[in-house]
Amino acid sequence: MSKDVYRLIGPGGNEMELPIRTGTAGPDVIDIGALYKTKGVFTYDPGFVSTGSCESDITFIDGEKGVLMYRGYPVEQLAEHSSFLEVSYLLLHGDLPTASEIEKFEQTIRRHTMLNEGMLNFFKGFRYDAHPMAMLSAVVGSMSAYYHNVMDASNPEHRDIFAHRILAKLPTIAAAAYKLNIGQPFIYPRNDLNYSENLLHMLFAVPAEPYEIDEVASEALDLLFILHADHEQNCSTSTVRMAGSSGANPYSAIAAGISALWGPAHGGANEAVLEMLEQIGDTSQIKKYVEKAKDKSDPFRLMGFGHRVYKNFDPRATIIQDMCHKVLQRLDRKDTPLFDLAQELEQVALKDDYFIEKNLYPNVDFYSGIIYKALGIPTSMFTVMFALGRSVGWAAHWREMIADPAAKIARPRQLYTGPAQRNYTPIEKR
Ligand code: SDX
Repeated sequence: MSKDVYRLIGPGGNEMELPIRTGTAGPDVIDIGALYKTKGVFTYDPGFVSTGSCESDITFIDGEKGVLMYRGYPVEQLAEHSSFLEVSYLLLHGDLPTASEIEKFEQTIRRHTMLNEGMLNFFKGFRYDAHPMAMLSAVVGSMSAYYHNVMDASNPEHRDIFAHRILAKLPTIAAAAYKLNIGQPFIYPRNDLNYSENLLHMLFAVPAEPYEIDEVASEALDLLFILHADHEQNCSTSTVRMAGSSGANPYSAIAAGISALWGPAHGGANEAVLEMLEQIGDTSQIKKYVEKAKDKSDPFRLMGFGHRVYKNFDPRATIIQDMCHKVLQRLDRKDTPLFDLAQELEQVALKDDYFIEKNLYPNVDFYSGIIYKALGIPTSMFTVMFALGRSVGWAAHWREMIADPAAKIARPRQLYTGPAQRNYTPIEKR
């Protein structure tokens, strides 16, 4: 059989050759685009476990080897040498910027951080205890009401402005949500601060006294944003692509992605990990909760463990765990019960046959919350922090999808298992 086809043999010897496509790295794909038209059948893959939804140049993951690359650069190298805004430029434009390019990009982002003043009124309508993710998705969705006239998706300049606005304004919106939750006044961004410094300033500064940026916190946040920036066709990114494929306003597509990220099976897991660790309480309870996680009749899962793609370690979790040590030490934290509990829980789980057989390792969400908490960020804001990092990945994928001349509306089919055709019966006969 020639390398470049799979031969499908159906009932009655009904055959079809399906072309194989090979990428730069990773598994080949079987192009089934002509299957329904030729053979009148659909493929079936709930959850898209074995399905590639698109072609992309942005991010590559090898789940067996624990590899994550942004535009070909291993995430470990970017974590060590780069910054979140430099990685953002890389994801959006495909190459690392020159000195003049990054200077212009950083200046552009700093000068897009303010919100339309009217947008701040939305926060007057939320209850003080509204979940920040609900506020983030609502206010980001409202951006389509403010910028609908500067959004010609076929115009590369408009696509750039959209990406700059998403990257620059989400931290301001996120901090505004946090300030509402704690009853403090909204703090305006400052153009003399870098991305992570500005976020810390808007989160923790108060009008009553000067606020000094903690460089440990700023560096830790910048690294966390790099690690969360993109992750190929994950649930929220696929949501952004699907919403954007109809030609919907890209701000609305990003709002849809924020909603998808909120789920505890996805970006909501970092918040769920801290709640789980606090539920476990101390190391004496670890065995009990590991057994609960293995019990099929018990809905409890070890949050922050397992991954659809990584069947080995998640390279981001490894970097974040190392960073936990450094941040807690530099913050002079001697008493680190949650971090100690998390590390012990990891050791117990990784020695357990259930987790070994199912290839369940800590993922990006397992340790990140411990750092956020050490920096004074409340659990309810953890998934918001994830969204801030991932915002550039969403924007990069939307741009890639919308600029693809072959792009079409995403519209999957189904296996229908409902009632066969039947006739309407008048109510008196039911
Ligand atoms: C993120 O896709 C991405 O790239 C996501 C992400 C990104 O950067 O965008 O990496 C970010 O979302 C990380 C994942 C965060 N979620 C969690 O930590 C929640 C806990 N983990 C799981 O719910 C689960 O592992 C998923 C959702 C992450 C993956 O689910 P899959 O791929 O659909 O796997 P599955 O649910 O079919 O699990 C396979 C088996 C099952 O047992 P069997 O039915 O085969 O007997 O493993 C078991 C599951 O019951 N299992 C777990 C478990 N995760 C999977 N058992 C206990 N605890 C867990 N955490």
